[in-house]
Amino acid sequence: MASTHKINLCSQGIALKALFTGYLIVVAIGYMMAMVQIQFTHGLADGELGLSIDDIVYSYYGKRSGSVIEAKLNGSMQLMAPEEDRLKIINWVHKGANEQAFYDTGIRQIMDTSCVMCHNAESGLPIPDFTQFKNIVERAKTDTGASFSSLARVSHIHLFGIAFIFMFVGLIFSLAAGVPKYLKATVVVMPYLFLILDISSWWLTKLNPNFAWLVIIGGGAMAVSFCFMWVVSMYEMWIMPRIHSDTRDALLDE
Ligand code: HEC
Repeated sequence: MASTHKINLCSQGIALKALFTGYLIVVAIGYMMAMVQIQFTHGLADGELGLSIDDIVYSYYGKRSGSVIEAKLNGSMQLMAPEEDRLKIINWVHKGANEQAFYDTGIRQIMDTSCVMCHNAESGLPIPDFTQFKNIVERAKTDTGASFSSLARVSHIHLFGIAFIFMFVGLIFSLAAGVPKYLKATVVVMPYLFLILDISSWWLTKLNPNFAWLVIIGGGAMAVSFCFMWVVSMYEMWIMPRIHSDTRDALLDE
């Protein structure tokens, strides 16, 4: 008589184990690629390699301390115009870089006398052409970080996509017999809670930079639960059966 089949990872046949393993390996590579991509999109936001709180603040909240023009006029462009003209430009930027005021308050003239000799299309320098108003105003805006529409787009893609990944990773992991049921239930729901925390904290950071650390906690906790489920599932499929047989039923709540 065939023995009754146990619903646990350890005693599954080779086909299901191969399917689960293939899936787990591919999502793990996907996860690593996501980490690499984060380094490119957010990691460089503060001008330094590696992800830091500043990167998260700059990405979502923006670098509100000032515009490119103001930063340059206090930095490498400081000697290009007399103090008085410099302050006039900065003042115009602070007041919202309005096009009418650009002509009315003489900013156009200052630019023409002090800046356009280098900042023109024919100079051959890789610098913006300041004969065009749009090139100036682009650098006069304060950086307010991610736009609400881009946040909404990235949020819904993450919510749907990551929920789907954790559905299958969680299903495979719930067939692990060696994990106490309350720990298992906790590990299975954790990614969902932290996913919601992570994505809410993007929006909160957009409004207030102090929430940036929540982004790190949310994302980090999600990664920890992913690793835990991944390692336990692989262990119960491939290593545990070589050590001992397992007759427990992973899905029974007793
Ligand atoms: C002698 C030539 C010269 C003059 C005059 C000059 N600039 Fe520049 N500017 C540069 C060069 C070269 C760079 C690129 C190097 C850098 O960013 O410091 C630059 C970069 C900038 C940038 C950064 C552009 C970007 O998008 O990265 C701004 C803003 C700027 N200049 C503003 C001004 C303003 C405003 C004036 C006039 C008050 C001015 N510059 C006058 C040569 C000049």
